[in-house]
Amino acid sequence: MAEIFDKMEVEFVRQEDESVQVVADSIRETGEVPEKYVRSEIKADPVIVGAEGYNLPVIDMSRLLNPEFSEEEIAKLGSACEQWGFFQLVNHGLDQGLLQQIKADITKFFSLPLEEKLAVAIPPNGMEGFGHHFVFSEEQKLDWVDLLFLATRPIEHRNLTFWPTKPSTFRDTLDKYSLELANVSAQLLKFMANNLGVDQEALLSTFKGLPQSMRINYYPPCSQADKVLGLSPHTDGVGMTFLLQVNDVEGLQIRKDGKWFSVQAMNGALVVNIGDVLEILTNGRYKSIEHRAVVNSNKERITIAVFQSAHLFCTIGPLQELLKAGKAHYKVIDGVEFTKGYFAAKLEGRRYLESLKLDI
Ligand code: OGA
Ligand code: NI
Repeated sequence: MAEIFDKMEVEFVRQEDESVQVVADSIRETGEVPEKYVRSEIKADPVIVGAEGYNLPVIDMSRLLNPEFSEEEIAKLGSACEQWGFFQLVNHGLDQGLLQQIKADITKFFSLPLEEKLAVAIPPNGMEGFGHHFVFSEEQKLDWVDLLFLATRPIEHRNLTFWPTKPSTFRDTLDKYSLELANVSAQLLKFMANNLGVDQEALLSTFKGLPQSMRINYYPPCSQADKVLGLSPHTDGVGMTFLLQVNDVEGLQIRKDGKWFSVQAMNGALVVNIGDVLEILTNGRYKSIEHRAVVNSNKERITIAVFQSAHLFCTIGPLQELLKAGKAHYKVIDGVEFTKGYFAAKLEGRRYLESLKLDI
Protein backbone atom coordinates (compact mmCIF):
# COMPACT_ATOMS: atom_id res chain seq x y z
CA MET A 1 0.00 0.00 0.00
CA ALA A 2 1.97 2.95 -1.26
CA GLU A 3 0.71 6.53 -1.19
CA ILE A 4 -0.34 6.47 2.44
CA PHE A 5 -0.77 10.23 2.33
CA ASP A 6 -3.44 9.88 -0.40
CA LYS A 7 -5.76 9.08 2.45
CA MET A 8 -5.31 12.60 3.78
CA GLU A 9 -7.09 14.16 0.79
CA VAL A 10 -5.29 17.45 1.34
CA GLU A 11 -5.39 20.16 -1.26
CA PHE A 12 -2.50 22.54 -0.91
CA VAL A 13 -2.46 25.44 -3.36
CA ARG A 14 0.47 25.27 -5.77
CA GLN A 15 2.89 28.10 -5.19
CA GLU A 16 4.00 30.04 -8.22
CA ASP A 17 7.46 30.20 -6.59
CA GLU A 18 8.57 26.62 -6.94
CA SER A 19 11.56 27.22 -4.74
CA VAL A 20 12.20 29.79 -2.02
CA GLN A 21 15.89 29.18 -2.60
CA VAL A 22 15.47 30.60 -6.13
CA VAL A 23 13.55 33.59 -4.70
CA ALA A 24 16.36 34.14 -2.18
CA ASP A 25 18.95 34.10 -4.97
CA SER A 26 16.93 36.49 -7.11
CA ILE A 27 16.65 39.17 -4.42
CA ARG A 28 20.28 39.03 -3.38
CA GLU A 29 21.00 42.29 -5.29
CA THR A 30 17.96 44.33 -4.23
CA GLY A 31 17.44 42.74 -0.80
CA GLU A 32 13.71 43.25 -1.24
CA VAL A 33 11.64 40.41 0.17
CA PRO A 34 8.40 39.76 -1.76
CA GLU A 35 5.38 40.88 0.26
CA LYS A 36 3.90 37.40 0.60
CA TYR A 37 6.87 36.36 2.75
CA VAL A 38 6.84 39.46 4.99
CA ARG A 39 5.43 38.69 8.44
CA SER A 40 4.18 41.56 10.54
CA GLU A 41 3.53 39.45 13.63
CA ILE A 42 7.18 38.67 14.43
CA LYS A 43 8.12 42.06 15.89
CA ALA A 44 5.49 41.82 18.61
CA ASP A 45 7.09 38.72 20.17
CA PRO A 46 9.97 39.10 22.57
CA VAL A 47 12.73 36.54 22.14
CA ILE A 48 14.93 35.23 24.87
CA VAL A 49 18.26 33.79 23.84
CA GLY A 50 19.59 31.09 26.11
CA ALA A 51 18.75 33.04 29.27
CA GLU A 52 19.49 31.46 32.63
CA GLY A 53 17.04 28.77 33.62
CA TYR A 54 16.09 28.26 30.02
CA ASN A 55 18.51 25.54 29.01
CA LEU A 56 16.82 22.58 27.40
CA PRO A 57 17.04 19.45 29.59
CA VAL A 58 19.65 16.95 28.45
CA ILE A 59 18.71 13.27 28.49
CA ASP A 60 21.43 10.66 28.25
CA MET A 61 20.39 7.45 26.45
CA SER A 62 23.38 5.53 27.82
CA ARG A 63 22.16 6.29 31.36
CA LEU A 64 18.59 5.27 30.48
CA LEU A 65 19.98 1.93 29.33
CA ASN A 66 22.28 1.42 32.31
CA PRO A 67 20.46 -0.30 35.24
CA GLU A 68 22.59 1.68 37.69
CA PHE A 69 21.34 5.08 36.49
CA SER A 70 18.13 4.19 34.68
CA GLU A 71 15.66 5.13 37.39
CA GLU A 72 17.19 8.55 37.91
CA GLU A 73 17.37 9.26 34.18
CA ILE A 74 13.77 8.10 33.58
CA ALA A 75 12.63 10.60 36.20
CA LYS A 76 14.58 13.31 34.36
CA LEU A 77 13.02 12.23 31.08
CA GLY A 78 9.54 12.42 32.60
CA SER A 79 10.07 15.86 34.02
CA ALA A 80 11.49 17.11 30.68
CA CYS A 81 8.37 15.83 28.88
CA GLU A 82 6.08 17.42 31.47
CA GLN A 83 7.80 20.76 32.00
CA TRP A 84 9.30 21.39 28.58
CA GLY A 85 7.91 18.97 26.02
CA PHE A 86 11.43 19.23 24.58
CA PHE A 87 14.84 17.78 25.41
CA GLN A 88 18.21 17.11 23.88
CA LEU A 89 19.15 13.47 23.57
CA VAL A 90 22.85 12.68 23.94
CA ASN A 91 24.75 9.39 23.73
CA HIS A 92 21.92 8.20 21.48
CA GLY A 93 24.17 5.60 19.89
CA LEU A 94 23.63 6.75 16.29
CA ASP A 95 26.51 5.79 14.08
CA GLN A 96 28.75 8.85 13.54
CA GLY A 97 29.58 7.80 9.97
CA LEU A 98 25.87 7.57 9.16
CA LEU A 99 25.26 11.05 10.60
CA GLN A 100 28.06 12.49 8.46
CA GLN A 101 26.67 10.71 5.41
CA ILE A 102 23.09 11.91 5.82
CA LYS A 103 24.29 15.47 6.36
CA ALA A 104 26.41 15.27 3.20
CA ASP A 105 23.64 13.71 1.09
CA ILE A 106 21.00 16.24 2.15
CA THR A 107 23.33 19.16 1.53
CA LYS A 108 24.12 17.77 -1.94
CA PHE A 109 20.44 17.29 -2.78
CA PHE A 110 19.54 20.89 -1.97
CA SER A 111 22.50 22.22 -3.93
CA LEU A 112 21.25 20.54 -7.12
CA PRO A 113 19.78 22.81 -9.85
CA LEU A 114 16.02 23.35 -9.39
CA GLU A 115 15.07 21.13 -12.37
CA GLU A 116 16.73 18.16 -10.72
CA LYS A 117 14.92 18.71 -7.43
CA LEU A 118 11.65 19.07 -9.33
CA ALA A 119 12.11 15.47 -10.50
CA VAL A 120 10.63 14.60 -7.09
CA ALA A 121 8.23 17.58 -6.87
CA ILE A 122 5.06 17.25 -4.78
CA PRO A 123 2.27 16.61 -7.36
CA PRO A 124 -1.04 18.56 -7.28
CA ASN A 125 -3.03 17.39 -4.24
CA GLY A 126 -0.04 15.37 -3.04
CA MET A 127 2.05 15.54 0.10
CA GLU A 128 5.23 13.65 -0.56
CA GLY A 129 8.20 15.08 -2.39
CA PHE A 130 9.98 18.43 -2.83
CA GLY A 131 7.92 21.60 -2.40
CA HIS A 132 5.75 23.25 0.25
CA HIS A 133 3.04 22.29 2.74
CA PHE A 134 0.18 24.11 4.43
CA VAL A 135 -0.51 26.60 1.63
CA PHE A 136 -4.28 27.00 1.33
CA SER A 137 -4.79 30.30 -0.49
CA GLU A 138 -3.08 32.72 -2.84
CA GLU A 139 -3.29 35.45 -0.19
CA GLN A 140 -1.63 33.50 2.60
CA LYS A 141 1.75 34.54 4.03
CA LEU A 142 4.38 31.98 3.12
CA ASP A 143 7.17 30.32 5.08
CA TRP A 144 10.76 30.90 3.97
CA VAL A 145 11.55 27.23 3.41
CA ASP A 146 11.76 24.49 0.79
CA LEU A 147 11.08 20.99 2.02
CA LEU A 148 11.38 17.36 1.06
CA PHE A 149 8.71 15.25 2.74
CA LEU A 150 8.71 11.44 2.65
CA ALA A 151 6.81 8.56 4.26
CA THR A 152 9.63 6.35 5.54
CA ARG A 153 8.02 3.61 7.71
CA PRO A 154 6.57 1.03 7.65
CA ILE A 155 8.58 0.13 4.58
CA GLU A 156 5.49 -0.90 2.57
CA HIS A 157 4.24 2.70 2.80
CA ARG A 158 7.26 4.08 1.00
CA ASN A 159 6.70 5.59 -2.39
CA LEU A 160 10.11 5.55 -4.01
CA THR A 161 8.91 7.86 -6.81
CA PHE A 162 9.62 10.68 -4.37
CA TRP A 163 12.93 9.39 -3.03
CA PRO A 164 15.74 11.33 -4.72
CA THR A 165 18.25 9.31 -6.73
CA LYS A 166 20.76 12.15 -6.57
CA PRO A 167 23.12 11.93 -4.83
CA SER A 168 23.27 8.20 -5.54
CA THR A 169 23.80 7.27 -1.87
CA PHE A 170 20.76 9.27 -0.63
CA ARG A 171 18.12 6.49 -0.63
CA ASP A 172 20.35 4.04 1.17
CA THR A 173 21.37 6.66 3.76
CA LEU A 174 17.74 7.66 4.39
CA ASP A 175 16.81 4.02 4.83
CA LYS A 176 19.52 3.48 7.46
CA TYR A 177 18.77 6.73 9.28
CA SER A 178 15.07 5.89 9.33
CA LEU A 179 15.74 2.49 10.96
CA GLU A 180 18.08 3.89 13.61
CA LEU A 181 15.56 6.57 14.61
CA ALA A 182 12.69 4.06 14.75
CA ASN A 183 14.80 2.03 17.19
CA VAL A 184 15.62 5.04 19.34
CA SER A 185 11.94 6.00 19.48
CA ALA A 186 10.90 2.47 20.49
CA GLN A 187 13.39 2.63 23.37
CA LEU A 188 12.19 6.04 24.48
CA LEU A 189 8.54 4.95 24.40
CA LYS A 190 9.36 2.12 26.82
CA PHE A 191 11.04 4.50 29.23
CA MET A 192 8.10 6.89 28.92
CA ALA A 193 5.65 4.06 29.72
CA ASN A 194 7.73 3.33 32.81
CA ASN A 195 7.66 6.99 33.85
CA LEU A 196 3.90 7.25 33.26
CA GLY A 197 3.27 4.03 35.16
CA VAL A 198 1.34 2.47 32.27
CA ASP A 199 1.67 -0.91 30.62
CA GLN A 200 4.29 -0.71 27.84
CA GLU A 201 1.96 -2.48 25.42
CA ALA A 202 -0.79 0.07 26.00
CA LEU A 203 1.53 2.85 24.87
CA LEU A 204 3.39 0.94 22.17
CA SER A 205 0.23 -0.36 20.48
CA THR A 206 -0.61 3.19 19.36
CA PHE A 207 2.76 3.28 17.58
CA LYS A 208 2.54 -0.25 16.16
CA GLY A 209 4.94 -0.71 13.21
CA LEU A 210 6.62 2.56 14.24
CA PRO A 211 5.07 4.68 11.46
CA GLN A 212 7.46 7.43 10.49
CA SER A 213 7.82 10.29 8.05
CA MET A 214 10.60 12.80 7.46
CA ARG A 215 10.55 16.46 6.69
CA ILE A 216 13.85 17.82 5.47
CA ASN A 217 13.87 21.61 5.71
CA TYR A 218 16.03 23.96 3.66
CA TYR A 219 15.92 27.57 4.90
CA PRO A 220 17.74 29.85 2.45
CA PRO A 221 19.52 32.87 3.95
CA CYS A 222 17.51 36.09 3.85
CA SER A 223 19.07 39.56 3.95
CA GLN A 224 15.99 40.74 5.87
CA ALA A 225 15.82 37.69 8.09
CA ASP A 226 13.85 39.47 10.80
CA LYS A 227 10.95 40.01 8.37
CA VAL A 228 10.37 36.37 7.45
CA LEU A 229 9.69 33.10 9.23
CA GLY A 230 11.23 29.79 8.20
CA LEU A 231 8.41 27.82 9.74
CA SER A 232 5.23 29.27 11.28
CA PRO A 233 4.48 28.53 14.94
CA HIS A 234 3.05 25.00 15.21
CA THR A 235 2.97 21.82 17.21
CA ASP A 236 3.81 18.49 15.56
CA GLY A 237 0.81 16.23 14.83
CA VAL A 238 2.70 13.08 15.77
CA GLY A 239 3.97 11.09 18.75
CA MET A 240 7.40 12.64 18.91
CA THR A 241 9.90 14.35 16.64
CA PHE A 242 13.68 14.06 16.37
CA LEU A 243 15.41 17.09 14.91
CA LEU A 244 18.95 17.01 13.60
CA GLN A 245 20.66 20.21 12.51
CA VAL A 246 22.44 19.33 9.31
CA ASN A 247 24.73 22.34 9.42
CA ASP A 248 25.55 24.25 12.57
CA VAL A 249 23.15 27.14 12.06
CA GLU A 250 20.63 27.68 14.89
CA GLY A 251 17.06 28.78 14.25
CA LEU A 252 14.63 26.67 16.28
CA GLN A 253 12.61 28.59 18.86
CA ILE A 254 10.15 27.21 21.37
CA ARG A 255 7.39 28.98 23.23
CA LYS A 256 7.75 28.76 26.98
CA ASP A 257 6.05 30.92 29.59
CA GLY A 258 4.61 33.06 26.79
CA LYS A 259 8.00 33.92 25.28
CA TRP A 260 10.06 32.64 22.40
CA PHE A 261 13.25 30.93 23.43
CA SER A 262 16.08 30.09 20.98
CA VAL A 263 17.28 26.52 21.23
CA GLN A 264 21.02 26.02 21.25
CA ALA A 265 21.53 22.38 20.39
CA MET A 266 24.58 20.68 21.85
CA ASN A 267 27.00 19.31 19.31
CA GLY A 268 25.89 15.82 18.23
CA ALA A 269 22.60 15.93 20.19
CA LEU A 270 19.19 15.17 18.73
CA VAL A 271 16.50 17.65 19.74
CA VAL A 272 13.44 15.62 20.69
CA ASN A 273 9.95 17.00 21.20
CA ILE A 274 6.62 15.62 22.31
CA GLY A 275 3.91 15.85 19.64
CA ASP A 276 0.13 16.24 19.90
CA VAL A 277 -0.48 12.46 19.99
CA LEU A 278 1.61 11.94 23.13
CA GLU A 279 -0.01 14.95 24.79
CA ILE A 280 -3.43 13.40 24.14
CA LEU A 281 -2.42 9.84 25.14
CA THR A 282 -0.95 11.12 28.41
CA ASN A 283 -4.10 13.19 29.02
CA GLY A 284 -2.02 16.37 29.00
CA ARG A 285 0.76 15.22 31.31
CA TYR A 286 3.38 15.42 28.53
CA LYS A 287 3.27 18.72 26.61
CA SER A 288 3.24 19.35 22.88
CA ILE A 289 4.98 22.70 22.78
CA GLU A 290 4.58 25.38 20.15
CA HIS A 291 7.74 25.99 18.13
CA ARG A 292 8.87 27.82 15.01
CA ALA A 293 11.99 28.31 12.91
CA VAL A 294 13.70 31.61 12.15
CA VAL A 295 16.07 32.31 9.29
CA ASN A 296 19.71 33.38 9.24
CA SER A 297 20.69 36.52 7.33
CA ASN A 298 23.71 35.12 5.55
CA LYS A 299 23.84 31.38 6.04
CA GLU A 300 21.55 28.66 4.75
CA ARG A 301 20.08 26.41 7.45
CA ILE A 302 19.19 22.75 6.92
CA THR A 303 17.39 20.45 9.34
CA ILE A 304 15.90 16.99 9.23
CA ALA A 305 12.82 16.26 11.34
CA VAL A 306 11.91 12.61 11.84
CA PHE A 307 8.28 12.21 12.90
CA GLN A 308 7.24 9.07 14.78
CA SER A 309 3.50 8.90 14.25
CA ALA A 310 0.60 6.96 15.61
CA HIS A 311 -0.58 3.93 13.67
CA LEU A 312 -3.24 5.36 11.32
CA PHE A 313 -5.79 2.67 12.05
CA CYS A 314 -6.07 3.19 15.77
CA THR A 315 -7.96 5.60 17.92
CA ILE A 316 -6.18 8.44 19.67
CA GLY A 317 -7.40 9.29 23.14
CA PRO A 318 -6.15 9.41 26.72
CA LEU A 319 -4.80 6.03 27.90
CA GLN A 320 -7.36 4.19 30.02
CA GLU A 321 -4.84 3.51 32.76
CA LEU A 322 -4.33 7.25 33.24
CA LEU A 323 -8.03 7.93 33.61
CA LYS A 324 -8.34 6.09 36.91
CA ALA A 325 -7.04 9.20 38.63
CA GLY A 326 -9.26 11.72 36.87
CA LYS A 327 -11.35 12.78 33.89
CA ALA A 328 -10.32 12.74 30.23
CA HIS A 329 -9.22 16.15 28.97
CA TYR A 330 -9.26 15.21 25.28
CA LYS A 331 -11.73 13.69 22.83
CA VAL A 332 -11.09 10.27 21.35
CA ILE A 333 -10.41 10.56 17.62
CA ASP A 334 -9.76 8.11 14.80
CA GLY A 335 -6.10 8.12 13.63
CA VAL A 336 -6.87 8.94 9.98
CA GLU A 337 -9.31 11.70 10.99
CA PHE A 338 -6.73 13.16 13.34
CA THR A 339 -4.00 13.35 10.69
CA LYS A 340 -6.42 14.64 8.04
CA GLY A 341 -7.50 17.37 10.43
CA TYR A 342 -3.89 18.27 11.23
CA PHE A 343 -2.93 18.74 7.58
CA ALA A 344 -6.17 20.55 6.72
CA ALA A 345 -5.65 23.17 9.45
CA LYS A 346 -3.31 26.08 8.94
CA LEU A 347 -0.13 25.97 11.01
CA GLU A 348 -1.32 28.13 13.85
CA GLY A 349 0.32 27.28 17.11
CA ARG A 350 -1.69 24.89 19.29
CA ARG A 351 -5.02 25.68 17.63
CA TYR A 352 -5.75 22.23 16.23
CA LEU A 353 -4.72 20.44 19.41
CA GLU A 354 -6.84 22.82 21.51
CA SER A 355 -9.84 21.95 19.33
CA LEU A 356 -9.53 18.35 20.51
CA LYS A 357 -9.80 19.32 24.18
CA LEU A 358 -12.93 18.63 26.18
CA ASP A 359 -14.51 21.45 28.14
CA ILE A 360 -14.18 20.50 31.75
C1 OGA B 1 9.43 20.72 11.89
C2 OGA B 1 10.16 21.70 12.73
C3 OGA B 1 12.14 23.03 13.14
C4 OGA B 1 13.46 23.36 12.53
O1 OGA B 1 9.95 20.37 10.81
O2 OGA B 1 8.32 20.31 12.32
O3 OGA B 1 9.63 22.11 13.73
O4 OGA B 1 14.25 23.98 13.25
N1 OGA B 1 11.39 22.10 12.34
O5 OGA B 1 13.68 23.04 11.36
NI1 NI C 1 7.83 20.99 14.24
